[in-house]
Amino acid sequence: MINKKTWESNFFKRDIWSLDIDKFDSLTLLPEGLITCKVPSTDTKAITKIQEFDFKYCESELIFECIIDDDIEQVDGPEIATIKSLDELISFSKSSYIFSRFRQPWFTEEERDSFYCKWIENSLIYEYEDYFIIDKSHNKQINGFVTLKVYNDTAKIGLINVKQEYRGLGIASRLIKYAKYICQKNDIKKLLVSTQLSNTQAIRTYERMEFKMIDSNLWFYKG
Ligand SMILES: CC(C)(COP(=O)(O)OP(=O)(O)OC[C@H]1O[C@@H](n2cnc3c(N)ncnc32)[C@H](O)[C@@H]1OP(=O)(O)O)[C@@H](O)C(=O)NCCC(=O)NCCS
Repeated sequence: MINKKTWESNFFKRDIWSLDIDKFDSLTLLPEGLITCKVPSTDTKAITKIQEFDFKYCESELIFECIIDDDIEQVDGPEIATIKSLDELISFSKSSYIFSRFRQPWFTEEERDSFYCKWIENSLIYEYEDYFIIDKSHNKQINGFVTLKVYNDTAKIGLINVKQEYRGLGIASRLIKYAKYICQKNDIKKLLVSTQLSNTQAIRTYERMEFKMIDSNLWFYKG
């Protein structure tokens, strides 16, 4: 089965497809454009098959889960953002997402950066995300943020970013603690986040914040 990714195709102004390798036999009949395919990292059969058809490995995605305890204390500092913060957030978010799967040679750095800026903008008007949390506790400026989307009793971190010069000071940890507090208050039982295998700083941050890796996938691209 192959489906067009409508939002991405419109945004990047070219056809981008999502291929389900298990439900697709004739890889010779692929459409024009960029074909993306996510395969569980344990599915060696699918990984072999996709590479035989000249798909190239792009990035690995690790999924982390944290079970929300009942005794999370309130965290001072973080607050909910509004659209007024858009320019400030965009100003330090460009070039932050260097480990993204929207990468060269398939996407330019400009395309990657504008994708994340649009995600921030849409999240701030609460079109994509349910919570947009910012941290201003160091100097009254926004130095980091995290977004959350809620699916019944599970929440997922969409974006998390800390200003380059403020990394390593515990800002992401504080934002995640606040996100956990929101989960607890809203009876959300699990918090999920995914990152790339090469993003060691993010992996260390999640592991320190008591997330456990529960799944992993490989992304392959052709076109
Ligand atoms: C991943 C990211 C959000 C982590 O943010 P951060 O604010 O630097 O994270 P923290 O400060 O909470 O923890 C990171 C490091 O600081 C250290 N740290 C934590 N609290 C600290 C404190 N109070 N004082 C000093 N250092 C501290 C941690 O030990 C950790 O260091 P380590 O390399 O030894 O593991 C940040 O690197 C980032 O914005 N990256 C770019 C965007 C990105 O990739 N986002 C993830 C997409 S999935």
